[in-house]
Amino acid sequence: MSIEIIEYPDAELMMLKLASIISNALKATLRHQDSASLAVPGGSTPGPLFDALGAIDLGWDRVNVLLTDERWVPEDSPRSNTALLRERLLVGPAAKATLIPFFTGAASPEDDLTTLYDRVASALPLSVCLLGMGADMHTASLFPGGSALEDALTGEAPVWPMRAPGADEPRVTLGARVLNDAFQRHLVITGPEKREALERARHLPPTTAPVAAILPDTTVHWAP
Ligand code: 6PG
Repeated sequence: MSIEIIEYPDAELMMLKLASIISNALKATLRHQDSASLAVPGGSTPGPLFDALGAIDLGWDRVNVLLTDERWVPEDSPRSNTALLRERLLVGPAAKATLIPFFTGAASPEDDLTTLYDRVASALPLSVCLLGMGADMHTASLFPGGSALEDALTGEAPVWPMRAPGADEPRVTLGARVLNDAFQRHLVITGPEKREALERARHLPPTTAPVAAILPDTTVHWAP
């Protein structure tokens, strides 16, 4: 599989460049559409990108922001990706964006699936989708060995509950169809371990290496 990989000398520069790429894509979308949708990952990698992106004035009041996946925890949990968005992205000019949260307060994601479908459907198709990846080759919460992995890779539903050995708590994740329908897709990774995992994933099926499902037409951004 041939994919475009952009290598940066360091992560700081990569995050600034990505903020510029994503903001330009959103601005271009807003020139010919009333609204745009941006999906972003949680986890430990994208914080500095959020700091830079949220500071760019681009007409955020017409932008929907959602996560590619969320841990099923309330926003006062340190594990909440939504809390990360509120703290790092939706500040400054980006505070005007419309956040589409996943966690509903229900005991489990299966209890509120219709609400989740409606929320995600309101933001589709994605204009820009940024993804992260784990060293186990998961992306979003499409985990190897995940309870609903095959359905989430091939099914029609926009969002799927997921449980996995590599995830601490129940998750919800956008499905591969929604991720692949995005007009523009980027994957951001750092460090040699993830770079090696990416190389392995290129030659494996998505059931083993879920990130392989979204690699075609995705621009990969890597820094040591
Ligand atoms: C999450 C993410 C997940 C993340 C990867 C990489 O909730 O954990 O959305 O898909 O992008 O696990 O995580 P790190 O950036 O923490 O390595």
